[in-house]
Amino acid sequence: MEIIITDSPKLVAERSANLIQNLINKNPYPVLGLATGSTPVALYEKLIDLYKNNFLSFKNVTTFNLDEYVGLDPEHLQSYRYFMNEKLFNHLDINIENTHLPDGMKENPLESGPEYESLIKKAGGIDLQVLGIGANSHIGFNEPTSSLGSRTRIKTLTQKTMKDNSRFFKKDEFQPHLAVTMGISTIMESRKIILLATGKNKADAVKNAVEGPVTSVCPASALQWHPNTTVIVDFDAAEKLEYKDYYKFVLLEQDKLIQRFGGNQV
Ligand code: PGA
Repeated sequence: MEIIITDSPKLVAERSANLIQNLINKNPYPVLGLATGSTPVALYEKLIDLYKNNFLSFKNVTTFNLDEYVGLDPEHLQSYRYFMNEKLFNHLDINIENTHLPDGMKENPLESGPEYESLIKKAGGIDLQVLGIGANSHIGFNEPTSSLGSRTRIKTLTQKTMKDNSRFFKKDEFQPHLAVTMGISTIMESRKIILLATGKNKADAVKNAVEGPVTSVCPASALQWHPNTTVIVDFDAAEKLEYKDYYKFVLLEQDKLIQRFGGNQV
């Protein structure tokens, strides 16, 4: 794992946008995995900015989001489809037909997972997957104790996640407790992963994911097995990391190697 510790959430967004920009510029038909939640919003604003200033085009980009609630139609203000359209897709030159989220409205929601897996496969797999991390270390909606070998399927949300996400729902509004989410094993097949975290409330989750044992109790710890994951965090989210100085040293050494021999960040 490569760990990048930045001074601010703004820099987390900029560093991650750079990685996505590199991917889009070097790959004629890039496949991006995207996430919802508060953390990636600043990244999406940065991508919109790059597009509006003609530094980036999303014409040939295909996207797959991590997850969607079961029982919220795409028009629902809290559905992840609505969120992605509002926060990103509506502001880009992306072909909306090439943007995918799991179908949370299928008559038989059990069919959504396998269908989504085939779509990802048909697209040639995911080149770069963006992840946030829950305070309980979930990735996507893979809650603690999710199988590390899991594929896209229905998951029941924990009370903690329900509570964390209740801020998005009006009082007395229906808040789904089921979601269709890419599995941990699905996520692990992405060729590159970037995990973003900001704020003190993520410090324990980041510490456990990066420096704790690999265990289904901390789903993000599975990423320790991924050969090309970059964790980009601000100071607050990095607060509890033990090897902070080492991570900085690694990046300095890596920069020297890139300057000497060239190389690409993605
Ligand atoms: P957040 O959610 O970005 O809103 O903190 C992250 C997550 O639950 O994966």
